[in-house]
Amino acid sequence: MCGIVGYIGAKECSDILLSGLKNLEYRGYDSAGIAIGTDGGDVQMCRVKGKLNKLYEAYHSDPFDGTIGLGHTRWATHGRPSKTNAHPHRAGRVILAHNGIIENYGEIKSRLVDKGRSFDSQTDTEVLAHLIDQELANGASDLHSATRQALEQVEGSYALVIMTADNPDRLVVARNASPMVIGTSDGDIFAASDIPAVLEYTRDFQFLEDGDTAVLTRDGAEIYDADGEPVERETKHINWDPISAEKQGYKHFMLKEIHEQPARIIDTLRGRVDPEEGDVDLREVDIDPEWLADVDKIVMIACGTSFHACQVAKYAIEQVARVPVEIDLAHEFRYRDPIIDDNTLCVPVSQSGETADTLAAMGEARERGARVLSIVNVIESTMARESDGVLYTHAGPEIGVASTKAFTTQLAAVNMLAVWLGRRRGVLEQDTACEYLKALRQTPNLMEKILNRTDIYEQIARRYSDAESVLYMGRGNQFPIAREGALKLKEISYIHAEGLAAGEMKHGHIALIDEEMPVVVIAPRGGVYDKVFSNLEEAKARQGELIAIATEGDEQIAELADMVVEVPEASDFIQPMLSVVAAQLLAYHVADFKGTDIDQPRNLAKSVTVE
Ligand code: G6P
Repeated sequence: MCGIVGYIGAKECSDILLSGLKNLEYRGYDSAGIAIGTDGGDVQMCRVKGKLNKLYEAYHSDPFDGTIGLGHTRWATHGRPSKTNAHPHRAGRVILAHNGIIENYGEIKSRLVDKGRSFDSQTDTEVLAHLIDQELANGASDLHSATRQALEQVEGSYALVIMTADNPDRLVVARNASPMVIGTSDGDIFAASDIPAVLEYTRDFQFLEDGDTAVLTRDGAEIYDADGEPVERETKHINWDPISAEKQGYKHFMLKEIHEQPARIIDTLRGRVDPEEGDVDLREVDIDPEWLADVDKIVMIACGTSFHACQVAKYAIEQVARVPVEIDLAHEFRYRDPIIDDNTLCVPVSQSGETADTLAAMGEARERGARVLSIVNVIESTMARESDGVLYTHAGPEIGVASTKAFTTQLAAVNMLAVWLGRRRGVLEQDTACEYLKALRQTPNLMEKILNRTDIYEQIARRYSDAESVLYMGRGNQFPIAREGALKLKEISYIHAEGLAAGEMKHGHIALIDEEMPVVVIAPRGGVYDKVFSNLEEAKARQGELIAIATEGDEQIAELADMVVEVPEASDFIQPMLSVVAAQLLAYHVADFKGTDIDQPRNLAKSVTVE
């Protein structure tokens, strides 16, 4: 939630800030602003309600520039989206941008109001600007000391970039439970919420840890730990290609990312699977393999789409490795007093590695004795750094708010983990493992076949985009895909949708089915095909409009369904990775037909860094 970018160096920085914010827009987009220390010795600001194109227009109608500045794109938590609530916020000499939540802001605000300070916005952030300004007025030796003194008074989460109107030579940044990276390149120093913000300017990044603050000058970055002691944070070279953060001719990032899936799955499998030997190489995971192979149970936690990956994982890991897998929404897990001990493996799954609830749940599991193996996409994210071991998914930067390639690469990772565990635990024969891994290797080719067909989705979009509600049904490891398909449709087309276990239909949902209700049935041939087929007949008997995601050439389904989206024949082990691509394309084309804002759907944010 919220994206921040800061710059100090020799260059005029308006373009750096604006392009940085564009690359962070997935973190929030209800208002935005920049502040730049201009050559005249003052700081000028431009803030708007709305998306970044509004900020571009407002800025270019009255431009200003300078070699130090900061910017922010917002996802509102405290105070509705408006120009006054947009960051940066200024109090006296202090100008800042914030990502996170100051939990005790009400109490601090009353104290400051009693001292005669007045507030312009309804945000929690503005109290920080006032607190720092007050510390400066009270004699703090410099901006860094004032910031540290102010932060001692606040509770909550923050990533901050701060400057003062009278010192064009210094930015101060701080981090606590909200991500912040520092990038450096030949005298240019950048601060940002996330790597893609400034990837076109540098590949060398330092990652602040909780409690860290830093002073950025044209000579470099000095980092201090939570005790205020100077500290070295290792510089990491990031190999992501900035081009992959651009649309490359696709109408939307989401469509580009759907089409990228075969390549990203190849990246995720590369160097890890050996179908000839029937084994997976997980030496990169820094957890004692003997302990890992011997765990009593696995607890998987996540939110949103990543939770659906956990649901698929339960089927795969239990079947292949015979280890009990519990799955939980992270925000439920952390408040339900879960039973965890030191023979439990906790597996948080996350694209961003920054989701606040998943981080907190993982901390809870660890406190109770579990070891943590996270499945994460963003390198050096908080989750990756706080885990005992990490299995990276290599989806690359995902910009579309509705997650696609992050999900299928998570499924690839989960399948690898299942085979690795199965082999180590002695419950998976080598021949069977070879078959699983061959199937996994074939996934990208099979996905390409789905991606090459578009007309069926356009027909579905024309016919059903007026629907008020859509039911998705699946069984076994296609049940989570029904939920994921429904989530995709809701997120980007704003059509209400529900994903259910097909066997549950007759316990309630069947009451909803009539000729107005499209029902998407995920019914590829495989384990429970006959059972799903019966559910399909039950829905048809109630005049439901049936859209089937089915195996190519399945005439039985073609006779019954009104529309059929074909997916290639494949092993049950990988089938969810195929049917979900069809569900993604279905949602995409319905939303595109309706003309919604697919990459930035209303009210959503890609990275939910608040509870
Ligand atoms: C948000 C995003 C979803 C994502 C979820 C979990 O809701 O819009 O696409 O699945 O957060 O995010 P994570 O980064 O932990 O996978």
